[in-house]
Amino acid sequence: MEVIIQSTTEQAALLVARLIAKRLRAKPALVLGLATGRTMEQVYGYLAEMHRREKLDFSLCRTFNLDEYVGLPARDPHSYRYYMDRHLFSRVNIDRRNTHLPNGTARDLAAECAHYEEMIRDCGGVDVQLLGIGADGHIGFNEPLSALRSRTREKALTPATVRQNAPLFRGGVKAMPRRALTMGVGTILDASHVLALVTGAEKAAILAKAVEGPITSMVTASALQLHPDCKVIVDEAAAKRLRGRSYYRWIFQNEPEWQEFRPR
Ligand code: F6R
Repeated sequence: MEVIIQSTTEQAALLVARLIAKRLRAKPALVLGLATGRTMEQVYGYLAEMHRREKLDFSLCRTFNLDEYVGLPARDPHSYRYYMDRHLFSRVNIDRRNTHLPNGTARDLAAECAHYEEMIRDCGGVDVQLLGIGADGHIGFNEPLSALRSRTREKALTPATVRQNAPLFRGGVKAMPRRALTMGVGTILDASHVLALVTGAEKAAILAKAVEGPITSMVTASALQLHPDCKVIVDEAAAKRLRGRSYYRWIFQNEPEWQEFRPR
């Protein structure tokens, strides 16, 4: 795992967008694992801008989102399908048929989850998985005690997640679904590369647990320590509680792989 600290939230999001763009240019038929949430909005903004200004090409790219709420159809403005259309898919030249989210309205949710895993396998697996970290340390909707080898399945959301996301629902806590379909921790760990973005002071304590604490299913983001190629990009506010801050800063300033991403 590498932790990379950027001065501002914007710089952290831009770095993540540039890392994705680099992979997409190297492999136009990239299989991209996507996340939703507030943290990702800026990343998608930068990717849309790169498409507009630099002709970043998504025409062959295939995407698989981490999760979707149970019971919300694609046309519901709170669904993650709606979020993805709004923040990314409608702003770049992606073929909508190549974009995938678990279907939270499927009659047989277990069969839908098995089918989702099969589709990922048929595409050759996820090349780059984008992640945020939730207030309770989840990745995807892998809430505390999710098995570290879990696969795509239905999960009940914790009160912390409901509190975190309720402000995004017009009806608040009451309107928020209590269940979601989510890739498992094992599904996420199968991706070739993982890119996590964590920003803001309110994530500082959980970030420290995830990257410097013990690996535990109580904080599923801590499972990323097991991944052989995981980069965690953070802003200064989120980095506040990391004991290894000065080492992480040194890595970004000195390691050759980061040279092209350092401000000139
Ligand atoms: C969303 C997802 C979640 C979020 C996490 C952080 O698809 O999988 O794990 O990444 O809850 O959400 P924000 O960015 O809103 O703090």
